[in-house]
Amino acid sequence: MTQLNFRRHRRLRTSATMRGMVKETYLHKEDLIYPLFVMEGENIKNPVNSMPGVYQFSLDKLDEEIDEVVEMGIPAVILFGIPAEKDAVGTGAFHDHGIVQKATRQIKSRHPELLVIADTCLCEFTDHGHCGVVEGEKILNDPSLDVLARTAVSQAQAGADIIAPSNMMDGFVIAIRTALDEAGFHDVPIMSYAVKYASSYYGPFREAADGAPQFGDRKTYQMDPSNRLEAIREAQSDIDEGADFLIVKPALSYLDIIRDVRNNFPVPIVAYNVSGEYAMVKAAAQNGWIDEKSVVLETLLGMKRAGADLILTYHAKDVVRWLEEK
Ligand code: PBG
Ligand code: ZN
Repeated sequence: MTQLNFRRHRRLRTSATMRGMVKETYLHKEDLIYPLFVMEGENIKNPVNSMPGVYQFSLDKLDEEIDEVVEMGIPAVILFGIPAEKDAVGTGAFHDHGIVQKATRQIKSRHPELLVIADTCLCEFTDHGHCGVVEGEKILNDPSLDVLARTAVSQAQAGADIIAPSNMMDGFVIAIRTALDEAGFHDVPIMSYAVKYASSYYGPFREAADGAPQFGDRKTYQMDPSNRLEAIREAQSDIDEGADFLIVKPALSYLDIIRDVRNNFPVPIVAYNVSGEYAMVKAAAQNGWIDEKSVVLETLLGMKRAGADLILTYHAKDVVRWLEEK
């Protein structure tokens, strides 16, 4: 037989050991951030319908969950709060005894080593469900900054290790950085939701966090899914204003954006594997249509390969179990 001249790629796939040796991307439990929904009340562990395995917790039910997260070696949680009462400004977001502040104190006193990330937004605390202060049907930029900055400072005072502003108002990073510094929190980093699209994949989260907008939509502040260059502009502003981490959200339909942000900014990049992405996988798995473990691990690996350093995901606890099985 004549000797054809071609390259034998299969040589590097001949055994599990060989494949292991040439593996380029890894998923580690240290990469994971676990979201938690905390609410006022007692004896509550409410399943979220559209997110099997995800619950809303009252504070008396929270310790057990946190102990498990720590035991598993997940390094960080991000907190979303559901207050007892909402108002037009979202004052519950910055109360000293607001739900996120109380949960933060409770977690930090029990597990000082677990990183608590406070989501800094207003939509769970406003009666209209928008992420900023409104006038009629308009979402006001600068008045929202003052409320956000107060919220961030009160979260840092409660012991939050990282502030994660998610409301997509212009200037939110500099407003929060300035307020944190003035209050003495120079060492509290900002993990900015720098690139956040107006996505339909947030549907289940709005049930979990009770934060659906009561009129209109979020398209004047969140980004158009058609845009790629705009992501660079958004990320650049947040870097200029002092962001320490950049979040890209959602993740699955935006892997190209994760790569762009990775290539342009030398800071830790966080992919937010959002509620709708989680719900789709869970629904298909429950029907027996896909293998949940291998699909989730492949999906999260894809986010890391795209350039994410960290992944914020509702699958975090399952992922740790699966990584330990292998
Ligand atoms: C609100 C917020 C949203 C998510 C995180 N913070 C929803 C929204 O913007 O409507 C979505 C997270 C998810 O879907 O998992 N600031
Ligand atoms: Zn919001």
